[in-house]
Amino acid sequence: MQAYELIIKKRDGLELTREEINFFIHGFCSGEITDYQVSAMAMSIFFRGMTSRELGDWTMAMVNSGETIDLRGISGVKADKHSTGGVGDKTTILLAPWIAAAGVPIAKMSGRGLGHTGGTIDKLESIPGFQTTLTREKFINNVNSIGVAVAGQTSNLVPADKKLYAIRDVTGTVDSIPLIASSIMSKKIAAGSDAIILDVKTGSGAFMKTVDDAKKLAEAMVTIGTNLNRNTIAVISNMNQPLGNAVGNSLEVIEAIEALKGRGPEDLMKLMYTLGSQMLTASGRVCSSEEGAALMKQTLESGAALKKLKEMIVAQGGNPEVIDHYELFPQAKDVLEISASENGYVSDIMAQEIGLAVKTIGAGREKIDDILDLSAGVYLKKKVGDAVKKGETIAVLYGNDREKMQVASARIGQAYKYSSDKPVPLPMIYAVITKGDL
Ligand code: URA
Repeated sequence: MQAYELIIKKRDGLELTREEINFFIHGFCSGEITDYQVSAMAMSIFFRGMTSRELGDWTMAMVNSGETIDLRGISGVKADKHSTGGVGDKTTILLAPWIAAAGVPIAKMSGRGLGHTGGTIDKLESIPGFQTTLTREKFINNVNSIGVAVAGQTSNLVPADKKLYAIRDVTGTVDSIPLIASSIMSKKIAAGSDAIILDVKTGSGAFMKTVDDAKKLAEAMVTIGTNLNRNTIAVISNMNQPLGNAVGNSLEVIEAIEALKGRGPEDLMKLMYTLGSQMLTASGRVCSSEEGAALMKQTLESGAALKKLKEMIVAQGGNPEVIDHYELFPQAKDVLEISASENGYVSDIMAQEIGLAVKTIGAGREKIDDILDLSAGVYLKKKVGDAVKKGETIAVLYGNDREKMQVASARIGQAYKYSSDKPVPLPMIYAVITKGDL
């Protein structure tokens, strides 16, 4: 077998066998197949796609390129969630303790920021002392003793994906649905949970700009998960404006805590109830999403979800006092108010622009080894549909570098769009895709 022949085969639209896929991924990881051949294969997949059989085999070959997490030491059906990446997405910080408090063990591996989107691990590190690097033993022990652990992905989980992603990033092959689906699902399968809930974001702030593309990606991932015996459900959610009001590491953790105290913004809570009730359903804890939502409400109102977050912070070495003393989070020295440039209604807040603006003041990385300013971010006081008067404060920017903040605040001001009529609200949830929909 030769890589050259396999590239030609895929280029010509033929189906690769399991052996051929294993040979290719294995050869790529060992260095026998060159990066330029991998680029040619990625481009062939970009244009020709993959059958669902190829997609499953490609995903498993990626999983087998590194270590996998064995969660059999934790009893019960373990649930995991994944977001395809958004701005202001603090869902894991809420859902991991909330769903654990509702009785489903959560052993979650999360990532750092990517592009204009933030990462859960960076956000959690704004809690003083909070450890995101856990040994395998500690990770499993925490889930066994308190029901939840959220840790950074180990470096040897799906090494083929790291290599392939780096090539895709520079060869125009990131936005290929089979390559994204297998990249995400290989990491979820390797992380070992039984039930997988995928939050597939769509809109200006997401990788998938249209609902149609988001549906295709969701279906590809549900197909992979189902074929590999994981109970997989995808939710297609709106990312045309940032989620909630806070964007930036510590600001987002504070918003998540507020939400667990029952004071979460409407869009965030709607998404939480949808994702959470699907997690409870997929793991068999409840029989329907309605029952799941009722259990979530009870868990929130009793204070059990907040208590679980506190336990998780303690178990991972963080200071639990942050829950009642937000001043313990890293504090920005400077604050800039951004005001409305028109009278009317907010008709759009370009999420990607907001993400990029806060990145320039240190909330995200330009280079892989950049150190974040965990206090930097923006609080959006006005969201789409809100009435505004010219000059009224629409957002508050927090940071430590006034010059950069001035540039970022102008960018945020321009990301707000206005209309004279109240805009028709877009749905927060477009669809829920289960194996029955395939
Ligand atoms: N996120 C991933 O993990 N992989 C992709 O290919 C795109 C987004």
